[in-house]
Order: sequence, then structure tokens, then C-alpha cells
Amino acid sequence: MHTVRRFSSFLLISGLLASSCAAHAQERDKAVLAWRGEQPVRAKHGMVVSVHHLASDAGLNILREGGNAVDSAVATAFALAVVHPIAGNLGGGGFLLLRTHDGKSTFIEFREKAPLAATETMYQDAKGNIIPDASTLGYRSIATPGSVAGLAYAERTYGKLGLKRVIAPAIKLASDGFALTAEEANELTESDLARFPESRSLFQRDGKFYRAGEVFKQPQLARTLERIAADPDDFYHGKMAQELVADLSKGGSLITRDDLAQYSVVERKPIIGEYRDYTIISAPPPSSGGIVLVSALNILERFDLAQMKDRSAPWIHFITEAFRRAYMDRAEYLGDPDFNRIPTAELISKDYAAAWSKSIEPDRASPSAALKRPAGFLPLAPSTAGTRQKESPDTTHLSVVDAEGNAVALTTTLNDSFGSHVTAGSLGFLLNDEMDDFTSKLGTPNMYGLIQGPANAIAPGKRPLSAMTPTIVLEDGKLRYVLGSPGGGRIITTVANIFLSATAGKLNIQEAVDAPRFHHQYLPDKLYLEPGVDSRVQDELRDMGHTLDLGDGHWSNGECIAIDPKTGELLAGHDHRSSYGSAAGY
Ligand code: DON
Repeated sequence: MHTVRRFSSFLLISGLLASSCAAHAQERDKAVLAWRGEQPVRAKHGMVVSVHHLASDAGLNILREGGNAVDSAVATAFALAVVHPIAGNLGGGGFLLLRTHDGKSTFIEFREKAPLAATETMYQDAKGNIIPDASTLGYRSIATPGSVAGLAYAERTYGKLGLKRVIAPAIKLASDGFALTAEEANELTESDLARFPESRSLFQRDGKFYRAGEVFKQPQLARTLERIAADPDDFYHGKMAQELVADLSKGGSLITRDDLAQYSVVERKPIIGEYRDYTIISAPPPSSGGIVLVSALNILERFDLAQMKDRSAPWIHFITEAFRRAYMDRAEYLGDPDFNRIPTAELISKDYAAAWSKSIEPDRASPSAALKRPAGFLPLAPSTAGTRQKESPDTTHLSVVDAEGNAVALTTTLNDSFGSHVTAGSLGFLLNDEMDDFTSKLGTPNMYGLIQGPANAIAPGKRPLSAMTPTIVLEDGKLRYVLGSPGGGRIITTVANIFLSATAGKLNIQEAVDAPRFHHQYLPDKLYLEPGVDSRVQDELRDMGHTLDLGDGHWSNGECIAIDPKTGELLAGHDHRSSYGSAAGY
């Protein structure tokens, strides 16, 4: 059996790359991606797709050694923590969606939590103004990390090979190092990293920046990974916890031993929706991903997209109007389910979507400011911050399918590129700035321009609302797609773009991943377009009353798999917006 793989043929040239976050969108290239006619990578037995070829290879080797999709996904994620420090992580959190070959699905949630000492207005000054950068940069932006607990839990519960074996490739990559490409070396020069001495020392050699071709070794991280392999619990309850808190409290982080000790992973029921012949299995709260995706698709079911040309003005218009409405509900209703009663069934009901769809005009944009939610379907949106309910119960995505047909969609995040930019010096890894995903102040947008409601206010031990949307799609009950992406608030529309292009748009999975994206999030009332949307289509959209924003270059990074319904062959769509990712299959 030979390995199939392919690196991106498309090279991005300038600035920070598409794997990083919307916050850096302006810095990205404006080049147009060639996407029509691009073909997916094919494999018969197993496939791993991620933003870094060394991580995809690590996952592929684990599959070849007899590991299942969870073993492989966990190995890939730990490898990304080494080779993709901009987003891969030990100091962040994430979601792992698993569907096993016998048809069961589960969602492993290891979202970061606000420290116990956090308060609703902690990022506001005495006058109630937002303190610049406070929730996005530095020690006070860090939320209690969940990645180590989540990956260890997934491996222990659903893996076959055990943590030691699946972490081994990451340890090797950290101790032997790997040669940096020009793009990776450039990423490590980020100026905010230099503001934190440990980050400056580790990633920038105290100002003697790494150059293309140089080998980047991370001995502290290798040692930390060895310790996690030996006892992951030590990260939350033992010596490692003590060292982490000592490192972080030096800089004023609120995270204590109690925060780490109380951290727990939760298995939740995925959101399940039906769209035409497809079953959508996706992320439940504390992600907004599944609810927003399914409610947008429910609205779109009322329109015959298959009769429209992919990326034509009507195609973009109808999908945008569905996004606008689903994001309006996101802003008002969604937050940590342990702190809010979320009307999930109502939000994803077909009747509600049908009522929403009636307000869409075929050739006219609906101004967001005038949008009225159909009456009689939802309870009143919360107007104050939720309190804990009684016990009811920069980001990167990878997709894996194994030879048995088990599938994993795994998205993990540091939030911004390099997260808070703070490195736990002795342990050698970066910490998230996930606190910015909360509502720092009502009516004020976060780093992704998302305006969010009281349901997502900061509270001790609460999880910030996420947009991460790891998604698995079935067609007539059989595994058909594994989808996901980074991209901040644009993740959900990225997954929707890819899914709709691959189905109604009849593109192959590679074309669907590469095709220019469009995004609308209710507020600001703008239709964001990636480069590559035909200028006549842009004119038609303007004529319909859409306010276009073309200034953000490329965003997101879809790493997806399709299964050929006739042959069962695995087809990978690796995002050509990034130059060092790959699909690796056998
Ligand atoms: O959980 C979320 O929605 C964000 N923290 C994701 C951030 C992200 O995708 C940034 N990378 N592009």
C-alpha cells in the first residue's frame, strides 16, 4: 500500500497565512486562488487532512500502525501543538466530534473556562469603557485550558493504542525539530510575541529570528509532552499544574490551582439536523456552530439552490440571507449551556425556519437593522447574564477517517494567532486568549466583530461561546463528509459554504474547499467576499442592496474529507490557502 499525499500547489506570498485568524485578515494576501478543476487526494483505507504535512503524516502513521480515527486525530492534534504553534496547542481548548462505524456519534467538549476569579466587567475600566487589548493579549486574557484533558480523555475513552504511543510522534518532532519553511519562519516573527520574554526567547531566539530552512527544536515542549504521556492528570492536579500556575501568576493571570483542579471534559450530544437527503451532525453549545449551521440550512431548504449556479448572485444572496438570520439568533440566544437554558429545539425547528424564509426577498437584501424575528417560535432572549444552572447536565481543524469507517472532526483553538502570546516558560507552550470570545461589554464587538448578548457574559467557571463547527454529514444514513475549519466567527459560514458547494453546487470536495468564500454575520451589516468572486456578480449583489466588503483577503482553512458514495473511496480537500498543509492517506 502506498501513501498518497500532496502539498499545496498554491503558494501564498505575503503576511500572515490563512490558518490564522480573522483578526489578521487585512494582513493576508489578496491573490485569487485557482480552484476550478482542482482534484481531491484519493485513498482507499484511511485519510488524515490537516494544516501541517508533518502532523498529517503523524496521524497517517498511527492509522497504519493499527490505530483508529481517534488515535490518529489525537496524534495529529499533539503534533500540531509542536509544528503549528500559531494555533495547534496544549494551552487552548477544542471540540472533537466522533462518529463510529456502527452509527453512534458523540461530541467531546474541552472548551476553556473563565477563571474562578473572573467577573462580568473585568475588561472594562471604571467608566465602563473596554480596556484595549485586555481580553486579547497577555496574562489576563487566558482562560483555563482544556486541550490536554480533552485529548487525553478522547484517547482513553475511544482510542486503541494509548496516550504514550499517540504522543510519541509529537515528542520526536519537538526534540528533533523540523525545518521551517519561509512562511513558517515569517509567522514566528510576529511582533506581539516579542512582548513576552518567554515567547521571545522560545519562538524568536531573543531577536535572532529563525530563517527558512533552519531546524526549529523545542526541548521544553518535548519534556512537557513526555510528562503528559506519562500522566496527563499531572497537568491539572500535580506538579505540572503547580509549575503552570507559578509561570502564569507571575504575569498577573487569574488562573489558580483550583481552576485547573476543577477543570473537566464534558461529553455532549451533538446537534443533529436534516437537510434534504443529508443528516448534519455538528457542534452543540457551548459552540454556536451546529445550531447556526442547521438553522441556516433549514432556511435554505425552502429555496432550490441546485437550480442556481454556484457563486452566482442568487446563490450568494439566498445563502447570505440565511446566514444573516441564523447569526441574529446566535447573538441573542447562545452561550454556555451550563449557564443558560438554550432553546435548541426551537432554534433548529423546521417550522421556525419556514417562517424565517418568508421574510427573504429573492432580489433584495434585508437590512439587518430592520430584521424582525418571526413571532411565536422562541422564548424571550435572556436580558441579563445567566447564572449557573443546576447540574443538567488561532484555531485549527483536522479530519480523519479510518479503514473501519470511524470518522473524527476535531477543531482546537488558541483563539487569536499565538493566543494570548504568553508562553508558560518552563513548560514551553503558548496559552490561549479565549476570554475574548465572551461578551466583554454588551453592544461592543469582539475581535471577530461579533456582537453577543448576556447569554455569553463572563462568569466564573463559564465557557465562552465558540463558533467552531466540526461537522460530520451522512447521506441516506451513510458517512459522506467530514468538515471543519478555523476562522473565528466565519467558521460556521465556511463550513456551510463548503457543504453547499459540495452538494447543491456539485463541486468536488477540493474545489468546494478552495472556492472563494462569502460571509455575513448579521452585524455589521456587510457581505464579506474573498477574492475570486466574479465582478459582475459583485455588481448584481450591490444592486440587490448588499454592502460588500472585499478588503479581508482570504480567511479560514477547511480541511475536509468526502466519501465517494459509489466506491467508498476517501477524497480529501486540503485548503490551498495554506502552503504547508496536506492530505495524507493510504
Ligand atoms: O472558538 C471560537 O469560535 C474561536 N476561538 C475560534 C478562533 C479562530 O478560529 C481563529 N482562527 N482563525
